[in-house]
Amino acid sequence: MTTTTAITHIATLVTNNPDLGEGPLGLIENAALVIENDRIAWAGRTADVPATDEAHDAQGRAVVPGFVDSHSHLVFAGDRTAEFNARMSGQSYRAGGIRTTVAATRAATDEALEANLTRYLAEALRQGTTTFETKSGYGLTTADEERALRIAAAHTDEVTYLGAHIVSPDYADDPAAYVELVTGEMLDACAPHARWIDVFCEKGAFDGDQARAILTAGKARGLHPRIHANQLSYGPGVQLAVELDAASADHCTHLTDADVDALAQGDTVATLLPGAEFSTRAQWPNARRLLDAGATVALSTDCNPGSSFTSSVPFCIALAVRDMGMTPDEALWSATAGGARALRRTDIGHLAPGARADLAILDAPSHVHLAYRPGVPLVREVWRAGNRV
Ligand code: NIG
Ligand code: FE
Repeated sequence: MTTTTAITHIATLVTNNPDLGEGPLGLIENAALVIENDRIAWAGRTADVPATDEAHDAQGRAVVPGFVDSHSHLVFAGDRTAEFNARMSGQSYRAGGIRTTVAATRAATDEALEANLTRYLAEALRQGTTTFETKSGYGLTTADEERALRIAAAHTDEVTYLGAHIVSPDYADDPAAYVELVTGEMLDACAPHARWIDVFCEKGAFDGDQARAILTAGKARGLHPRIHANQLSYGPGVQLAVELDAASADHCTHLTDADVDALAQGDTVATLLPGAEFSTRAQWPNARRLLDAGATVALSTDCNPGSSFTSSVPFCIALAVRDMGMTPDEALWSATAGGARALRRTDIGHLAPGARADLAILDAPSHVHLAYRPGVPLVREVWRAGNRV
């Protein structure tokens, strides 16, 4: 049976559809939405809203599309408080810290991993995230990577195989043999549970040739590439991502002009993860430079216990506005429509008719407050697939 619900008296509605309202965000004031089952059926002014079965008064609040967090690492056990403390006392971040989480994750039961995952998902949902991608990468054996993906796949369609997070400590003396495992037996076990394949292309993790071999093997098994690129240093990751038509190059902190040009010309989204720079006290990625060059920018949390232990997209929006040269409108677009582009999805990240009815009602009259009132829990209500959660 079809049920229609109107959300009325929305002070500012962000549709992310320029045909429906003002500017790139398609802003409508004094707005209303009609939801039919799990989809948006209508968007316009409250004065023009059609009759519906049910009505919900937003009482002058803002409504934004649900956040699309296109980059997280949520299948893990333990935390790295001591490492964070040491960093905040002056030590620098190194990829090797990942080994601490690998040991804790391998030792955890399936139930413990799933309980941890659902805890962070619930936390993210309360803060407005209605779609999230998550990865393996803390198992680094065939069995541990496979179970991480199996657990993740029970909670999201956007699952990424990251057996190539670092060279497994078991293969420290023979990285080539680890690449063979990741592109062979481990890939065979993992591919059925995943949509994406990722690699950490960085000094101390995998170089450009290894990354190309890993992503190419994944493509041959029907996985689509995305890549951790240019996070800690300049390197080949971004241009490799564009060359392989990866959906996204993630981090993009250290970019040459050629990297920026490649992103501007290709279809690969630049996903910026300011929680990582915050938590590692690293230099900020330059969103302004990417936007001015014409690249598509997404904003995500990178939620993981090492480099970015936040599940809050609003926090990332505030950082991007304060420190990465984004306007509040650009940051919100990147955290919604940009995330959808980074996952090559057209059904989410906007609120035009036909979109999945994923949205957040803010305790504020405008979406700008997400950056203007940092640290304040402004997400009052979350609706996912037409249901208030
Ligand atoms: O995206 N860069 C690689 N992986 C994660 C960090 C993982 C960790 O430190 O545990 C990231 O920042
Ligand atoms: Fe990451």
